[in-house]
Amino acid sequence: EELQLNLEQIEKGGYDHFMLKEIYEQPQAIKDTFRGRMLVKEGIIKMAGIDDNIEKFKNARRIIIIACGTSWHAGLVAEYIFEEFARVPVEVEYASEFRYRNPVVFKDDVVIAISQSGETADTMAAIKLAKKQGAFVFGICNVVGSSISRITDAGAYTHAGPEIGVASTKAFTTQITILTLIALRLAQATGKMADSEFRNYLQELERIPGKVEKALKCNDQAELVAAQYKDAPNALYLGRGYNFPVALEGALKLKEISYIHAEGYPAAEMKHGPIALIDEMMPVFVIAMRKGHYEKVVSNIEEIKARSGKIIGIVTEGDTEVKRLADHIIEIPETLEPLTPILATIPLQLLSYHIALMLDKNVDQPRNLAKSVTVE
Ligand code: G6P
Repeated sequence: EELQLNLEQIEKGGYDHFMLKEIYEQPQAIKDTFRGRMLVKEGIIKMAGIDDNIEKFKNARRIIIIACGTSWHAGLVAEYIFEEFARVPVEVEYASEFRYRNPVVFKDDVVIAISQSGETADTMAAIKLAKKQGAFVFGICNVVGSSISRITDAGAYTHAGPEIGVASTKAFTTQITILTLIALRLAQATGKMADSEFRNYLQELERIPGKVEKALKCNDQAELVAAQYKDAPNALYLGRGYNFPVALEGALKLKEISYIHAEGYPAAEMKHGPIALIDEMMPVFVIAMRKGHYEKVVSNIEEIKARSGKIIGIVTEGDTEVKRLADHIIEIPETLEPLTPILATIPLQLLSYHIALMLDKNVDQPRNLAKSVTVE
């Protein structure tokens, strides 16, 4: 047993938990995900699984994304990115709902299944259903040789490396990375994006690992904020546009490992219900990037403040307006709007980690949860 413990210590590479290690591995994991696929100088994205099937993608009537849990959140981010870049309609579905509701699937639909483990039972079943109905199914998995990577028609690996912590971190940001590459490649193939813009995105993507590195520097601030709110019974996460799914993911991270009840909402939906919950006991984590409905989010923050809610703003470096209103802010580097989810996710991961740790929870193996859910 002692040997086992030592082995685990070594595997954690000096970190106290796998989750923390995996959070810090994100700059490298993202780099590994686009390495060899993105030729920035040449202005080319090379992905065998896409290139070999480019006609299917170009002629897709729709893209249907199926996934569970955190992978589903990555799918939601991708919906915004695909529709913006490639102007193709996208639907994102929980695999479990898709498989049980007699979905309409056309032969010219492209289905993208996202799964870190490549073993999730509901996602597997949804893929089989889509294939039976004649759709082309593309898999995005992290685990090489996994079941989903084998049953899909084509696919691409995320190259995040092994993810051990049950709460998914680096799988999420690398899924967004690869989905962004695919959306860009498709936008280029269909002529929906100007070459100059395409190249601009490649250049900025190349800077993302460095910016994630910088975002990780918020760790001390995240710890400080965590100490303030660790005893809150509830928490609310708000974001708009590209960062609405990030709000969902932030809330999921907190639920998973700290067992604090948390909900993610599109900021503007707050007035249709969640606002009733706001009082001085309620921390509200608001993603308020300078690019992306900034003024709207600021007015949402004012509404929270008027009801004595505690505001933690996830903001762009140098922000002044939210800083003036919020109880706490966490700054992350600026980037192009569609790439902000990757950076905005980082502080939310760290916040959950520190809160769970302070509450003395089992960060890497939370109760009732499994890393991959191979049963229904
Ligand atoms: C489980 C894990 C989550 C994960 C989800 C989907 O619930 O605890 O972290 O997001 O399954 O897993 P997959 O391997 O298909 O991405």
